[in-house]
Amino acid sequence: MKAKIALFAGAMLWAVSAAANPVGERAKGGYPEYLFLEKVPRADARSTAEKLAKAVIAGRLIIFAYSKKLTDPELGDKGFTGDVFEQQWRSALEADMLDATADQKRIIEKLIWAGRQVIENNQDRLNVKGIAWKHFLPAKWEREMGQVFTARTGIIVKQPGRNYRSPVNVSDEMELATLRHFAAAPHTDNTPKTAFSTLGKQAVYRHMEPIRLVPPCLACHGKPKGEPDMLGFEKDGLEVGDVIGLMSVTVAVSD
Ligand code: HEC
Repeated sequence: MKAKIALFAGAMLWAVSAAANPVGERAKGGYPEYLFLEKVPRADARSTAEKLAKAVIAGRLIIFAYSKKLTDPELGDKGFTGDVFEQQWRSALEADMLDATADQKRIIEKLIWAGRQVIENNQDRLNVKGIAWKHFLPAKWEREMGQVFTARTGIIVKQPGRNYRSPVNVSDEMELATLRHFAAAPHTDNTPKTAFSTLGKQAVYRHMEPIRLVPPCLACHGKPKGEPDMLGFEKDGLEVGDVIGLMSVTVAVSD
């Protein structure tokens, strides 16, 4: 009896202290970025975020176009170097840079630097022979590039997922509301959701546009829902045109 009471009291104490000191929750009050190195005037915030979103999507497409080569198990050296990637990315961006301001040009240069850096960081992985899927996908390039780019600029580029595979792609409140909006809206609704907002004390501009599925994505994000894809994740059960995530850009404003 005594032992039972002691056990019960112990369990109660544990429950009280676990409630006061929860483990594994998000720490409250702060923001993942708090030194915004690059800022743009309010009047240029929108075009800056749009240029960044466009540029990142163009980078994704280049990697996507190489995916057959990159997943060929017979090939060792794929020849997909930082240089090759940078050259193609620059020509894809040329038209959109014609009307860029000096700030925007400097910021896009840093984006290109970050994107190239990630391709270089992944050379050993990409050039492995004998393995098809080497955990290098457009989404992974974007995740790693976003972190390198944020480190250098304080501008946040991320891709929150509808049901994220990488925990880095968890949505914040605004992104979650936007994902829910696009998940319920018709496939033709691609108007970005934008807002002036704040992160801590910093005024920011936010731009969120849908990333929609095209046929080659369905091998992993398609049907049947719950069946493992070739990487072991459960498929999302989605269709062509469905939103799978967001291209989310947060730029600090200077005025
Ligand atoms: C071979 C399986 C596979 C294919 C094909 C694939 N993805 Fe993914 N996707 C993944 C994996 C794995 C991740 C997590 C990558 C990471 O960050 O490490 C991911 C992540 C994402 C994310 C970020 C959110 C998250 O889940 O972490 C988006 C957005 C996304 N994919 C969109 C697409 C689109 C659009 C296509 C087609 C153009 C596509 N994917 C094709 C496996 C796949």
